[in-house]
Amino acid sequence: MFHFTYYTPTKVVFGKGAEGQTGALVKEQGCKKVLIHYGGGSVIRSGLLDRIKASLDQAGVAYTALGGVVPNPRLSLVYQGIELAEKEGVDFILAVGGGSVIDSSKAIAYGLTNKGDVWDFYDHTRQASACLPVGVVLTISAAGSEMSNSSVITKDEGGVKRGYNNDLCRPKFAVMDPELTITLPPYQTASGCTDIMMHTMERYFCPEGSMELTDSIAEGLLRTVMKNAKILHADPGNYDARAEIMWAGSLSHNGLTGTGRGDWATHGLEHEMGGMFDVTHGAGLAAVWGSWARYVYQNCLNRFVRFAVNVMGVENAGTPEETALRGIEAVEDFYRSIDMPTCFSELGISPTQEQMETMADMCIVAGGGQKGVAKVLHEADCLKIYQMANH
Ligand code: NZQ
Ligand code: ZN
Repeated sequence: MFHFTYYTPTKVVFGKGAEGQTGALVKEQGCKKVLIHYGGGSVIRSGLLDRIKASLDQAGVAYTALGGVVPNPRLSLVYQGIELAEKEGVDFILAVGGGSVIDSSKAIAYGLTNKGDVWDFYDHTRQASACLPVGVVLTISAAGSEMSNSSVITKDEGGVKRGYNNDLCRPKFAVMDPELTITLPPYQTASGCTDIMMHTMERYFCPEGSMELTDSIAEGLLRTVMKNAKILHADPGNYDARAEIMWAGSLSHNGLTGTGRGDWATHGLEHEMGGMFDVTHGAGLAAVWGSWARYVYQNCLNRFVRFAVNVMGVENAGTPEETALRGIEAVEDFYRSIDMPTCFSELGISPTQEQMETMADMCIVAGGGQKGVAKVLHEADCLKIYQMANH
């Protein structure tokens, strides 16, 4: 077994109507004024924002609000949020939305409690020493930011998308009502399911070490997500499938399926695609994963064989190499079955050679000189993977 620290301080309130408890949950935190942070309007259209305000009113909690967070959330809005929250005397950030809103909230929370430019943390030139408390009302099952120690922000100039991980930003509570996700467009539901799978797959494909319990949890989670993603593809209003996916989203990224291990190369590759082309995160992962897998599988063959058999149900495929490749093909078949892309043209991008070189360079810079553990990747490897996906 790997050595690990497991820390998941987030209180989860799960089920239909859970958002009605938001006011009481914020009050429990003993704060004076809340910044409600939200996205481009789905929470207004659904009436959720009004319900959250009513719940805060009922609990006697004062608030101000800032919307406008976009997918691949921008640093410029983070700066605006910091300025507004300082002016208003905010001491708690309530994210009402998905990964982008939560990550923007975490960035604002860092900015309010540390002097200097908050981008320094994302640029990895210094560490945060504090973070204002953040709470979440989740509206999309995907990023897992509601329980993670992570925040991913895009700097407007140059489209530089960077993540910063620190336990200080783990949300105090996460309100999860699966019914809130029923209004999602099918593409966002499927992208979310892909991202959830990837958070466990990134942790699963490691070159060594036996983690029997963690492997079983990971394999069960992946089978559950695939089964329920297919149900939602045919029947988007299915509450039980929404609920399974929502809980999987949190458990896939709160450390449970990793316990000390992780590759994260596919995420590194996608973050450059998101920064340069503003693609939807989960779809971007689907478009590049197969190329990554074919490039690295021989370096951790046993893991790919185990995955093919235990997760994708591959039987009697012949040699270990053939079994591993059948497993990779099965994942791509699954992605196609829920209308996810498996290459750049299906994702809707066609990067030039120069753009791929830039992404490969930036991916390795962001990784601190290399990326991944299933196979350690350098710049030329990243470029090769982008080229393999570019059809
Ligand atoms: O902005 P609104 O109008 O709310 O629309 C959003 C947005 O367009 C819409 N949406 C959300 N809930 C909805 C809804 N539409 C209808 N009904 C609802 N209930 O969905 C769109 C996508 O929202 P977004 O928050 O961007 O989705 P997601 O949760 O996938 O977050 C993606 C971001 O999280 C980052 C990604 O890189 C990306 O920037 N990640 C964050 C991680 C973390 N902090 O731990 C880990 C991940 O690996 C990921 O990198
Ligand atoms: Zn992700």
